[in-house]
Amino acid sequence: MTSGHGRPVLPETVLVAGGMPLGGELRVPGDKSISHRALIVGALGEGTSLLRGLSDGDDVRRTRDAVAALGAEVHDDGEVVTVTGGRSLLHAPLGPLDCGNSGTSMRLLAGVAAGLAGVTVLAGDASLSARPMDRVAAPLRAMGATVTGNGPRCLPPLAVTGGSLEGITWTPEVASAQVKSAVLLAGLFAAGETAVRERVRTRPHTEELLALAGADIEVTDEGAGRTVRVRASSLRPFDVVVPGDPSQAAFWVVAACVVPKSALRVRGVYAGETRTGFLSVLRRMGARVGLDGGAPGPAGAAANGRGAVAAGSSVGAVADVTAQWGPLSATVVDASEIPSLDEVPVLAVAAACAEGTTRFVGMGELRVKESDRLRAVARLVSAVGAVARIEGEDLVVEGVGDAGGTGGAGGVGGASGLHHFRFDSEGDHRMAMAAAVAALAAGPGESRIDGFGGVATSYPAFLAHLRHVGGHARVQLVAIDGPAGSGKSTVSRAIAERLGLDRLDTGAMYRAVAWAALERGIDPEDAPGVAELAHEAVIDPGPPDVVIDGVVVTSAIRTPEVNRAVSAVAANPSVRAALVERQRAWAVAHGGGVVEGRDIGTVVFPHADLKVFLTAAPEERARRRREEPSEGVARRDQLDSTRTASPLVQAADARLVDTTCRSVDEVIAEILSWLR
Ligand code: DC
Repeated sequence: MTSGHGRPVLPETVLVAGGMPLGGELRVPGDKSISHRALIVGALGEGTSLLRGLSDGDDVRRTRDAVAALGAEVHDDGEVVTVTGGRSLLHAPLGPLDCGNSGTSMRLLAGVAAGLAGVTVLAGDASLSARPMDRVAAPLRAMGATVTGNGPRCLPPLAVTGGSLEGITWTPEVASAQVKSAVLLAGLFAAGETAVRERVRTRPHTEELLALAGADIEVTDEGAGRTVRVRASSLRPFDVVVPGDPSQAAFWVVAACVVPKSALRVRGVYAGETRTGFLSVLRRMGARVGLDGGAPGPAGAAANGRGAVAAGSSVGAVADVTAQWGPLSATVVDASEIPSLDEVPVLAVAAACAEGTTRFVGMGELRVKESDRLRAVARLVSAVGAVARIEGEDLVVEGVGDAGGTGGAGGVGGASGLHHFRFDSEGDHRMAMAAAVAALAAGPGESRIDGFGGVATSYPAFLAHLRHVGGHARVQLVAIDGPAGSGKSTVSRAIAERLGLDRLDTGAMYRAVAWAALERGIDPEDAPGVAELAHEAVIDPGPPDVVIDGVVVTSAIRTPEVNRAVSAVAANPSVRAALVERQRAWAVAHGGGVVEGRDIGTVVFPHADLKVFLTAAPEERARRRREEPSEGVARRDQLDSTRTASPLVQAADARLVDTTCRSVDEVIAEILSWLR
């Protein structure tokens, strides 16, 4: 499933089944926080930095595009991203920097923009435009930059006018790695020393990377807090491996803890103390979790080590995280244990499965994440069958215990009292992934998660990984049948795009076989000859191209010769058997999709989630198929409808849509309404 840029697009609706143990090992995407910072610090370095294992989520792409717009050169060869930067290359961009949904991009880049002469505008999508930027605006203003936004809380878009900055000492009101990073990055351009004091330590990646790049930086731990001091410095390029993202690993770790009989290993995860608080929480709950192959080093260890940098050196401590299913009990989780609160949604799922009442204390910040996550987490916990309450800034989860999860008579049911559910993540990626974990924990039965497409912002391979460890997830299967010219291609393309699903044009497969028969001099009426060809041919139905046995036939299958030959080929039961098998395999490999043809709802996928049968008045169909003589279309329809092998008929449970005189948008809206 890919977008026009060759990047995976995730479906909006996903159906996840529980009841199966999870096992094996996987690698999660490169850490998002480190990836953002590696790009920015790389852009500030004088020369070419090599970044390996960079996150490929949308958010990091925003930062990547932004540093390019600021003047750095960015190249991606698939494995390594190179960033060529330096002070003399960077300048305020001509247009706004589009940060999409990424708060990290906006806050960090605001720090860089404060150091650049001119005005940098930082814009975001609707959700980001509702997130306050005042905490980052205040220190940057104190340093001498002009920062404007909407309203008292300085909502995006932000306009940052940079220039000559003075160092400050700043103690953020609320511990925030993003605010700290913005101030430190601006500090690289400021006169004198810039210091950030945090009462609670937050993720140290900006300091780690600045140290790696040779900045004049000093990190001092003070009790639970820390002070970071930086002075204007010239940065050198570096070569780093971005370790796995612990906040993504957390989904699998919790999944292994709550899905009966599961055991998982997540390889190469960043294991610094500020990012692994969720493991301490799980240990307190009695979970069997461990760090293997690299003890969590002291935070800021890399930041203190200003010696020579090895090629492909890692940022901070790295370890494998292991997790096994077992009974969980309730605990109290303080916000300071999980400074970003990123793992709270999935920890709430663990709490839902645990015995007793877990209290998450001081969760107010969750209200201003990608969604009102505090409300969303409570909604998810209730949906799966546990009890959730919001008490002031606290989230209280009454778990169901694992009475039914001990497996009983060899079963792998979910925790007793949990059940499958329907949940709308409203586009929030972490809520969607936490919901998938809840669905795995809920025992047999399929849960429906809407708003799943947002997962592409941070973890495009999430569904592939879920299947890799033994989870069952599928997307919807929509069958679209109808005669030539009824609008199948236009409609199925639009539905697939709207739902983020892949589309299969089965007619193209029959056409490809007909083309190959003509090409090889096999008479289309020679049933055994064409059948042999169909069974042996390797067909890639695309998109982008239809390929048969290595030959691209995208346009060649639309010629009058193929139009004339294809009905005989499609009436051949043995050809149909060969192609139907491949169509079913396609749907398994793609986890569902939009499939168009003549027998999709009747024969290929009799259990499709939705079956649509399109028709249109004969004159209109002939008009749409202008390139084919109308008697040809009529003849083909006649043959397709009267043949004995899977004739074109409307399935009993298919919805009939007459597309005559109706706009595409109208038809699409009607079909989508049936899926809701
Ligand atoms: O949709 P189309 O016009 O490209 O289809 C080409 C031919 O293949 C058409 O004559 C009907 C046949 N076909 C079929 O029999 N079964 C399908 N599932 C798809 C197409």
